[in-house]
Amino acid sequence: MDASPESLFEHFAWLYIFCREKLFRDDTTLMIRSIWPSGKPIPGEKLIELGCGPGFYSCRFAECFRAISVLGVDRSPSQLNRAREKARALKLNNCFFQSDNVLDLVHPENSFDVLIASRLFTVLPDRERGVAEMYRVLQPGGRCFIAEPRYAFWASLPLFTMWLLAGVTRFKNGYREPSKAKVLSPCELDRLFATQPWRQMKTWREGRYQYALCEKG
Ligand SMILES: C[S@@+](CC[C@H](N)C(=O)[O-])C[C@H]1O[C@@H](n2cnc3c(N)ncnc32)[C@H](O)[C@@H]1O
Repeated sequence: MDASPESLFEHFAWLYIFCREKLFRDDTTLMIRSIWPSGKPIPGEKLIELGCGPGFYSCRFAECFRAISVLGVDRSPSQLNRAREKARALKLNNCFFQSDNVLDLVHPENSFDVLIASRLFTVLPDRERGVAEMYRVLQPGGRCFIAEPRYAFWASLPLFTMWLLAGVTRFKNGYREPSKAKVLSPCELDRLFATQPWRQMKTWREGRYQYALCEKG
């Protein structure tokens, strides 16, 4: 498991948690409408969130739908601690968190009905591998919803601030995150998801975000 200390998300977890909770857009309603056009899941469905950070979306989904089971995975123990605290505070007994590498998930193929990931590809070095893992762990008929920022300036603010803090507090070479978020262009997003043989795939943009919704055949 990759939990080395050279992650900014680990060292400055509180900063990212603040951004996630207070500044970033909450797309829960859009996600729910896109994943379940009827507005609700089938009881017992299994949802995984990749790169869940402080568990914002995992907890939102588990809170909205108590009859599904939600698993958030991330490689930062501090982010996961915060996510677990949040689930405990909300008394969510259908929401779990696990340390895992989204580029090499421990779960066997066809394990989940639904997969979500938000703001993950901006910091992921091997994006194609990430999409391949998404496809692998989804069941046939399973859907994935991806939310990614569109503008490097806005997307880079948390990373830039964390790098700045790293510089004035405990600078070390070798934090693994880039200093600037690597935002996908619309064509790159299309090309990235087209690397897997989805039965259906749709990408679109709204405000500062872009989205992909895919269904495995
Ligand atoms: C920009 S944050 C996004 C967090 C959350 N999804 C959100 O919407 O705010 C990216 C997260 O991905 C995690 N991450 C990056 N690479 C990862 C990997 N290979 N495996 C697991 N988690 C990873 C980081 O630890 C961080 O918590």
